[in-house]
Amino acid sequence: ASDVRAVEVGDPPTVIAHRGGSAYAPENTLAAVDKAAGLGIRWVENDVQRTRDGKLVVIHDDNLRRTTDVEEVFPDRAPWKVKDFTAAEIARLDAGSWFGPAYAGTRVPTLEQYVRRVDRNHQKLLLEIKNPELYPGIEQQTLKVLANESWLDRQHRSKLIVQSFSADTVRTVHKLKPDVRTGLLGTPNVADLPGYAQFTDQINPSHSTISTGYVSAVQAFTGAHGKPLEVFTWTVNDATTARRVARYGVDGIITNTPDVVRNAVGAP
Ligand code: G3P
Ligand code: CA
Repeated sequence: ASDVRAVEVGDPPTVIAHRGGSAYAPENTLAAVDKAAGLGIRWVENDVQRTRDGKLVVIHDDNLRRTTDVEEVFPDRAPWKVKDFTAAEIARLDAGSWFGPAYAGTRVPTLEQYVRRVDRNHQKLLLEIKNPELYPGIEQQTLKVLANESWLDRQHRSKLIVQSFSADTVRTVHKLKPDVRTGLLGTPNVADLPGYAQFTDQINPSHSTISTGYVSAVQAFTGAHGKPLEVFTWTVNDATTARRVARYGVDGIITNTPDVVRNAVGAP
């Protein structure tokens, strides 16, 4: 059977700037969000973790070393886990110099700062709750921040999807705020989709794990909000792969190079 579906069959997939578009600016920073906005990219993806004093911050790793100067600023605080630092300590770190001198002084944003900037830029947010096993109650806390920032009101709701690799976390988010759209990261067995579809609107797999058959099988199920389950795939950074997954019929492509992918698939 052919694994090729004409890209013209449906609308082009939505393009989502992964970690804000991490090829062009330091990941998960306000600079990345602004860069994506400057490229005309409407959707950004981010990652949320929690500090020692219970503040939510936007950073991918559960450790501060890779994307900040934490080892220089706090040399005696190994192993430099996010959960072992206060928000005030993290606010002192440089989260941009590692990427390039032009970004020196860029900070790790709080979730509040991040969603305000996304809103100001008229962008939409695919928010990932990261490592929830480290942070009991992070689902409720994330929703509380989003509610305080008006991201759960009717106007914003269509601009928000909350995703996680943890099915328990996605289920919890759906239970707490049934109006919020959700995504389950990974490539679950098709046999398990009826269960997941009770609480998720998307299945979001690595591009290396999917085929036309898998994407079609997912989309044949009805998601938590009564529409076909969507597929947002990651992380696609070249035109050839972007065209391939577009032919599979994915609904979204999460990418570090959103301009490259947009041009490849003819997205607006
Ligand atoms: O949004 C999908 C993707 O971000 C999942 O992988 O490790 O980059 O968070 P990771
Ligand atoms: Ca992520």
